[in-house]
Amino acid sequence: MKVLVVGSGAREHAIVRSLVEDQVVDAVIAAPGNPGIDALALCEPLPDLTDAAAVLAIAQRHAVELVIIGPEAPLVAGVADVLRDAGFDVFGPSADAARLEGSKAFAKDIMSAADVPTGLAHVCTTIEQVADAMDALGAPHVIKEDGLAAGKGVVVTEDREEALAHAQACLAKEGGSVVVEEFLDGPEVSLFVLSDGVTALPLSPAQDFKRVGDDDAGPNTGGMGAYSPLGWAPQGLTDDLVARVAQPTIDEMRRIGTPFVGVLFIGLAMTSRGPRVIEFNVRFGDPETQVVLARLLTPLGGLLKSAATGRLDDYQNLRWSPEHAVTVVVASHNYPGTPRTGDSIAGLGDVEGVPTAYVLHAGTALDGDGALVSAGGRVLSVVATGPDLVQARERAYAAVALVQLEGSHHRSDIALRASRDEIAVG
Ligand code: AMP
Ligand code: GLY
Repeated sequence: MKVLVVGSGAREHAIVRSLVEDQVVDAVIAAPGNPGIDALALCEPLPDLTDAAAVLAIAQRHAVELVIIGPEAPLVAGVADVLRDAGFDVFGPSADAARLEGSKAFAKDIMSAADVPTGLAHVCTTIEQVADAMDALGAPHVIKEDGLAAGKGVVVTEDREEALAHAQACLAKEGGSVVVEEFLDGPEVSLFVLSDGVTALPLSPAQDFKRVGDDDAGPNTGGMGAYSPLGWAPQGLTDDLVARVAQPTIDEMRRIGTPFVGVLFIGLAMTSRGPRVIEFNVRFGDPETQVVLARLLTPLGGLLKSAATGRLDDYQNLRWSPEHAVTVVVASHNYPGTPRTGDSIAGLGDVEGVPTAYVLHAGTALDGDGALVSAGGRVLSVVATGPDLVQARERAYAAVALVQLEGSHHRSDIALRASRDEIAVG
């Protein structure tokens, strides 16, 4: 099977890495890929990921048998629809189904119809409505832009003025609306559930670290690190979330005529009153994918092909490594503000000396001399595994210490509290 992977991040690098290990996969094409992916797959230029005609042309030129769309932007833009209409098998939802991520208001409507546990929320189009909703829900205030914002559209704050200012900025955009949401306390979980439109098949849960600094200080980012599995999660959590969240959502999407094919990413908080959905995404999470795929033993290509072709019920159970996985994101100077790019990256070869460790590329590029340089905010995702979280962390951080990138920063506490059994639910 020939597979096309759309995207250029560490998530796509992880997906490609798993695909090339699957015996049914004989070639992987990536568009646009990145210098790390280039070592494993044929990279095709794709200046605009939402350009459906360009993606279709690549799929046709290589006669691929499966297209995996990594990021949300092309999904929301309808790239999967164009490919499906042309006869390709696609892992990734239609534009209509991708509204589960593209519109927080739509997601809330589906959750309500499917009786999915989530926080109270008000959709507001004026600043007066925002102020009323904030009064009704109380502090801390949670203000979300109602569209795609790469994980940066959310402000969670005790500061009423800061909350109002963020709301005002979102409302000032054309057609802008904001969601004011009840604050949800408790550890967060990311659960990926594969679907072929009917069947829901969960992967192993992970935890992401959204804030830029240690101890969750500073602004939200796309994600600074992750680990899996979650030793602290209550027994039966995954089955419970499939029964109460994933299956009802997938059933509701089918009922309204927009079946969901791809991966439903459930972001939730384990509150004292039970799990509450914070958000749905319609694609694999980054960096959670890096740790989930590090442990998945079931070959990925056949699995995603089954999801794309309505045959997911061929799989009863997935096989998982008993190892724990940790990833630490190395970010460029000034991320998540305006990241500095063009800094040279060195030391990646040394990482091979650390048992189990490897480096996935995200924002990297080759400069005019063919040297590896930073090209984005999140530059690398360093992964390692071990028999427990303590060892997986030690290896991941030993590898991070070998990476040289001027001005870079990373969190030093990824998976730390979990490794010390300090995470409590409820
Ligand atoms: P989102 O863009 O909805 O994924 O939100 C980004 C991050 O903001 C989440 O991962 C949480 O850390 C935080 N967040 C979002 N909604 C809430 C909420 N209702 N209560 C507390 N934290 C939240
Ligand atoms: N790491 C969270 C996300 O991919 O949205």
